[in-house]
Amino acid sequence: MDYDIKDINLREKGKNRMAWAEQEMPVLRAIKKRFKKEKPLAGLRISACLHVTSETANLMDTLKVGGAELVICASNPLSTQDDIAATLVADYQISTYAIKGEDNKQYYKHLDAALAHNPIITMDDGADLVSMIHSSKKKFAVIGGTEETTTGVIRLRSMAEKGVLKFPVISVNDADTKYLFDNRYGTGQSTIDGIMRATNRLIAGSVFVVAGYGWCGRGVARRSAGLGASVVVTEIDPVKAIEAVMDGFRVLPMEEAASFGDFFVTLTGNTKVLRKEHFDQMKDGSIVCNSGHFNVEIDIPALEKISKQKRTVREFVDEYTLSDGRRINLLGEGRLINLASAEGHPAAVMDMSFANQALSAEYIAKEAANLENKVYPVPKIIDASIARLKLQAIGIEIDQLTNEQVKYLASWDMGT
Ligand code: ADE
Repeated sequence: MDYDIKDINLREKGKNRMAWAEQEMPVLRAIKKRFKKEKPLAGLRISACLHVTSETANLMDTLKVGGAELVICASNPLSTQDDIAATLVADYQISTYAIKGEDNKQYYKHLDAALAHNPIITMDDGADLVSMIHSSKKKFAVIGGTEETTTGVIRLRSMAEKGVLKFPVISVNDADTKYLFDNRYGTGQSTIDGIMRATNRLIAGSVFVVAGYGWCGRGVARRSAGLGASVVVTEIDPVKAIEAVMDGFRVLPMEEAASFGDFFVTLTGNTKVLRKEHFDQMKDGSIVCNSGHFNVEIDIPALEKISKQKRTVREFVDEYTLSDGRRINLLGEGRLINLASAEGHPAAVMDMSFANQALSAEYIAKEAANLENKVYPVPKIIDASIARLKLQAIGIEIDQLTNEQVKYLASWDMGT
């Protein structure tokens, strides 16, 4: 078995952390139990490009138990948990290509290794596998893929609209049981966790500037407010801006917020959200970080250009000194701070996200022949089944419609 990881001796720690995460993943456990009996993925080659974390390891285990032949590579150079990579190789015999801190060249080498597996199904977080398959000269036999994140879905939709997408992809991100929990509560908590671990700065009383009020931004705004920050939201979408206002946040152009923010977090999925004109106005000691998928939201080349000195002052903190002496602290090289300096989303939300992944892979295995080369939502029946399993696992019961209510909802002439 081929692999490229940091240190196989980290396996014990990885195994323990994987088991710790599993305790909070009852939905995935239930799926694994069924997969063990039914083997819905028997003999299917799956290449996964995901953040290599304790939660992902539980997904890999589930897919393997379901019969898949698996390979995994990192979906970000800084998000890999090296102990988890070690246990995947040593205890689960899953070819893993992921090393925390790998450079871009090694990152793409690892993607190549995952593609050399010649996948039938791809499982992406950011659409890198799909994008490489589409730009490769090699012919692939992929019948379908799944996509975990907003940024990846945007890339895939653009491919589908241009008519270049060569196989169907299920947008796991858009399942209700994914984005409402993972993006909002997962990113909300893990981003704050990453900032606190990297800086140990006090959030209470600070001005926290959140760029982007999508589901991830909503989560970060809410959690930073909960810790006592005064929160400013920046937006380009008028509806989201109204929503932020009515949720109780101040909404301003970045141009104005730049001069008085203490913390800046980008979660927009777009490029150069923080750029020279903003750095020019920031206070001495400002903290700047990103929790969007790619490291393009902060214009780091512009920051480098206006700096006379750069030094690493703590793990995951690079201090840039500008020519007038002001210091701007960039966290985690502008990469996903929740995975760079913390451990990503807690297992309880990844449970639902990865349940969607596992069931979407099964859906592709069964239905690929009936799908076109488009981006498909996770079928509603799968989404609802995950919600029901989660409720059951956490011991919460809900009401059922009476027969009269079913009839009422189906009628159009019973308004009075
Ligand atoms: N994305 C965000 N948090 C994650 C986690 N814990 N595992 C895998 N992918 C993630």
